[in-house]
Amino acid sequence: MPEAMIPLSVPEMRGNELTYLRECIETNWVSYVGPFVTRFEDQMAKYVGTCHAVATNSGTAALHIALLIAGVKPGDEVLVSNLTFIAPVNAIQYAGAFPVFMDVTPQYWQMDADKVVEFLEKECLADGKGLRNRKTGRPVTAIIPVHILGHPVDVNPIVAIAKRYGLPVIEDATEALGAKYHGQMVGALGDVACFSFNGNKIITTGGGGMLVTGNTSWADKARYLTTQAKDDPIEYVHHEVGYNYRLTNIQAAVGVAQMEVLDEYVRIKRGIAERYAKSLADMPGLTLPAEAPWAFSTFWLYTVLVDKARHGADSRAVQRALAGKNIQTRPLWAPIHAQRPYRDCQAYRIEVTERLHRDALSLPCSVGLSQANQQRVIDALREGSARFEG
Ligand SMILES: Cc1ncc(COP(=O)(O)O)c(C=O)c1O
Repeated sequence: MPEAMIPLSVPEMRGNELTYLRECIETNWVSYVGPFVTRFEDQMAKYVGTCHAVATNSGTAALHIALLIAGVKPGDEVLVSNLTFIAPVNAIQYAGAFPVFMDVTPQYWQMDADKVVEFLEKECLADGKGLRNRKTGRPVTAIIPVHILGHPVDVNPIVAIAKRYGLPVIEDATEALGAKYHGQMVGALGDVACFSFNGNKIITTGGGGMLVTGNTSWADKARYLTTQAKDDPIEYVHHEVGYNYRLTNIQAAVGVAQMEVLDEYVRIKRGIAERYAKSLADMPGLTLPAEAPWAFSTFWLYTVLVDKARHGADSRAVQRALAGKNIQTRPLWAPIHAQRPYRDCQAYRIEVTERLHRDALSLPCSVGLSQANQQRVIDALREGSARFEG
């Protein structure tokens, strides 16, 4: 009989989810307004350490709104990581702006702060009106560092140069809830940050997102824009184009229950990472994910690099071998500067992301992954490695 499927990363509902859902249905608070929406927002603001949190129906919606409240206008340019799920780049496009793709560092695979600084200093021109890209002539008006895989970007140099030029920093923290940078929560490092609660994230609401900020007028604007920009909700007066981006009370009820166990989930994820690290450290041709000295990673995904020459097989061959044993793994995202909708956008000194896309493979790391199943993944990797070597 084939062994049961081990998925890459699936939700874990083991707390008060059902109790709170029942409460929604019994009280009839099932839609965009309700006590769980407010409770979820309060929990998130407190957890991250920001004054305000605005719940949205996806992380992508939160990013779109973050760009609008940060003042990004059609025709502007926004610096963004090139190695990311495509959502933040699409959000830039929704705002009518253009992405400028930034490389990641070879050690930690996060947005390369040195290259961001270099780009702004060498490739842009500051005049009285702001910052302009010398090559395209367009205004550069925001930076989106994307904390990928549960590990923070080295954001201090980015925040420092952004301050110098008056650029807002929008953290895409969708993959890094619970991570810390120099001891400070990811999401409280820039001007506004966005989280996601889709099904593969460390906690989930089925689908959902959150925008957090310390800026009161931005938070008010985010609430206004995510609820169809109602200037007079009784007479249906609208002075701006709004969006139907709010989270429902039902989703927020799940979110409140998931927040109650978030710290435990972070501990579990780090435990999974530790076991992988111990068991795979001596395997030839595997590079394991590193945690920077300034980082507390959640290891939301546990991603390794497979060096074909030393391992005897490339990442896709390893993926196929594990799939044959009913173990799901995934490569990282294809670099976005090469994707069809964004091929004409500027990409600055991209030297790392292609290799990471070729070599990376994420291993099963659900919160509910049992030690026995994790051992199955480790054994399968070892058996494959022995066969490739032979
Ligand atoms: C880096 C990144 N940004 C944004 C998103 C968008 O989040 P959502 O799926 O909730 O729209 C995701 C997740 O899907 C992501 O991984």
